[in-house]
Amino acid sequence: MNRSNLHLVSGDHGAKSMKPGTVSGAVDEALVNSLLGRINARQAKIGIIGLGYVGIPLALVAVRRDLSVLGFDVNRERVAELNEGRCSIAHISETDIANARDRGLLEATAEFARLGDMDAIIICVPTPLTKHQEPDLSYVEQTAQTIARTLRRGQLIVLESTTWPGTVDEVMRPILERTGMRSGVDFFLAFSPEREDPGNEKFEMAGIPKVVGGDGKHALELANALYSVLVTRTVPVSSAATAEAVKLTENIFRAVNIALVNELKVIYSAMGVDVWEVIEAAKTKPFGYMPFYPGPGLGGHCIPIDPFYLTWKAREYGISTRFIELAGQINRAMPRLVVAELAKALDRRFRCGLNGSKILMMGVAYKKNVDDMRESPSLVLIEILEERGAIVEFHDPFIPVIPETREHAALAGRKSVPLTAEELKKYDAVLISTDHDSVDYGLLVKNSKLVVDTRNVVERRGVSADNVIKA
Ligand SMILES: NC(=O)c1ccc[n+]([C@@H]2O[C@H](COP(=O)([O-])OP(=O)(O)OC[C@H]3O[C@@H](n4cnc5c(N)ncnc54)[C@H](O)[C@@H]3O)[C@@H](O)[C@H]2O)c1
Repeated sequence: MNRSNLHLVSGDHGAKSMKPGTVSGAVDEALVNSLLGRINARQAKIGIIGLGYVGIPLALVAVRRDLSVLGFDVNRERVAELNEGRCSIAHISETDIANARDRGLLEATAEFARLGDMDAIIICVPTPLTKHQEPDLSYVEQTAQTIARTLRRGQLIVLESTTWPGTVDEVMRPILERTGMRSGVDFFLAFSPEREDPGNEKFEMAGIPKVVGGDGKHALELANALYSVLVTRTVPVSSAATAEAVKLTENIFRAVNIALVNELKVIYSAMGVDVWEVIEAAKTKPFGYMPFYPGPGLGGHCIPIDPFYLTWKAREYGISTRFIELAGQINRAMPRLVVAELAKALDRRFRCGLNGSKILMMGVAYKKNVDDMRESPSLVLIEILEERGAIVEFHDPFIPVIPETREHAALAGRKSVPLTAEELKKYDAVLISTDHDSVDYGLLVKNSKLVVDTRNVVERRGVSADNVIKA
């Protein structure tokens, strides 16, 4: 932790952004010091609410730092599997969970009354969009109401779920203050965005700097102390809203840049220029350029969703987020463009269109090496292809069966077919939508009539052949 930096930031916050009615002097310093002491001595009991892609890795990081973690989830199956040392999320190590259980430092529960025993509570519940593309904060609100039932003086509560700037102040604080206790005086409220990148082995959570913003200087100090135990570097900022805005900025940056390369792909392809070759060369520039890659469309719980949290909030200020919405339009158009390329290739090569053609979708997870299907463009692709009369099957080493999803309910229950030479020969074309590392792309190219690659993985693997096109 950079303490001098923290004092600067927290001092500023106390002076400039203290809310009316928040009397900094009223805080019981002994209360703050006692929690700080327990955090620094690693004796603080940590409660993590929401044991999913974010909550479980965070719990494991805390256990690695010798902190005792009680995980809370409404999903009793998830609770049971964790207590048995298992985890149904593929990239999370069951050995790590079993070790944490053996050390007696990890337990999961659905008994939310136990929240009152926690010193610090970290919230990692979902923040999706409603079907009208508006923020759905119901999970955050419910969680705040649940915490309020057992809230006691001296607790630190940190929201990690991605959300619009102002959620901690405008949504969480009023719910918790209905108890009669006050934020910054009786309990402490902060926001620290999660920067987890599931499946990315280059970065582990503890090594990724953690941005922290608090509702008042004591909340910032406590949250910063907690994350200083968990990660190698914290980045304190002047308010919870700033920390909320940092996370949206990072994801909007990605969404907009992906839209840009998707647009460039279409333009360059018309000119006979390979966008992937362009990006490889452009990224040799040592400054002022950062590579982003085109694909079949956006997927996952973050990039297709988070930017619209800001779009929604901006309307309150009479501001329209044209850049964000344009990026969304371009990215959402990609699956139809990919299908158009596939149809064109079938017409040109075999004089058969999509209607009646057998297509193998290679990968249905939203990105490589994970079993997460949320917002996966592959599901959109399957639906468009079937609308056009194609017969579609899929292979995905991480997804044996397509689970229930809200927007593609009809696809639930479909099973991954084996990837063998014999099986591949049955299809008119293979559409690579997800570039999982474990797939044998040599086998795939050798035994397929046509391969349409939206990720440039075939070339990256050094396999070149006439039956491969990029889209
Ligand atoms: N997945 C990522 O890569 C990632 C990265 C950065 C930030 N985030 C953000 O982190 C948050 C969590 O995402 P996730 O991917 O871990 O979600 P997830 O769906 O994998 O996990 C959420 C968990 O919360 C549980 N839950 C739902 N309502 C609850 C409640 N009222 N009380 C207790 N538990 C409840 C669910 O059962 C589930 O196990 C979201 O805001 C997301 O935007 C996710």
